[in-house]
Amino acid sequence: MEIIILLGAPGAGKGTAAVRLVTRLGVKHVSSGDLLRQAVKQGTAAGKEAEGFMKRGELVPDALIGRIIADLLAAGGRDAKYLLDGFPRTVAQAEMLERVVTEQGGRIRATVMMDVDEAILIDRLAGRRVCPTCAAGYHVRNLPPKVTGVCDACGTALVQRPDDNPETVQNRLAVFNKQTAPLIAWYQARQTLVRVEGAAGSVDDVTERIVRALP
Ligand code: AP5
Repeated sequence: MEIIILLGAPGAGKGTAAVRLVTRLGVKHVSSGDLLRQAVKQGTAAGKEAEGFMKRGELVPDALIGRIIADLLAAGGRDAKYLLDGFPRTVAQAEMLERVVTEQGGRIRATVMMDVDEAILIDRLAGRRVCPTCAAGYHVRNLPPKVTGVCDACGTALVQRPDDNPETVQNRLAVFNKQTAPLIAWYQARQTLVRVEGAAGSVDDVTERIVRALP
């Protein structure tokens, strides 16, 4: 098993880059946020437990998301290659991931920290639109759909994510700085961290920078 982790604040562009990296790197994209939103939509037990945390912009409990990710990784087998987007987000989750990877005889190839200034993060989240059917992501200015308000891929009307309102965004950024930013030093100590400028240039420029930064 080989893992690449995309680390970055809300709005850093993890999901946007991940979609493009899947074909470039031949990896399977695993977005913890998408998995949780799907569970909420389907009304599963995990979804019911997660919903309140997500609405408030807080992290769901480590045990809840840890179980979902561990089951998914274990099911993929030893030869699988994953691009993790949104997981891990706490040191406890990183320790859990390390255990699963070790059990599978795998390795963490790289942890890519996408650096973006806070003012840009806020602008990106305010302008983000998503497809409720196929989860494709857009931005009203940076990455607009061909027809305003309509998903290019499946024709569904685009919506704003409920946690992209200004108050919840402030909370998500604070949660990132407190609970997730310590992972930068954690992965630096394990010598898997690479840092990538996530704001300059186009989406394709950022994707290219990530590919080039990988060991
Ligand atoms: P999650 O869905 O993971 O949200 P997030 O980390 O807050 O990240 P986002 O999806 O908001 O941002 P992104 O970096 O993917 O940016 P995007 O590519 O969309 O998590 C949601 C919630 O689930 C959490 O709050 C928590 O409750 C829970 N959760 C998830 N994982 C968890 C875990 N492991 N533990 C506990 N709880 C967990 O881009 C943003 C916008 O910018 C888009 O509009 C895009 O078009 C635009 N854009 C992107 N890149 C560029 C670029 N290069 N140039 C210009 N515009 C760009």
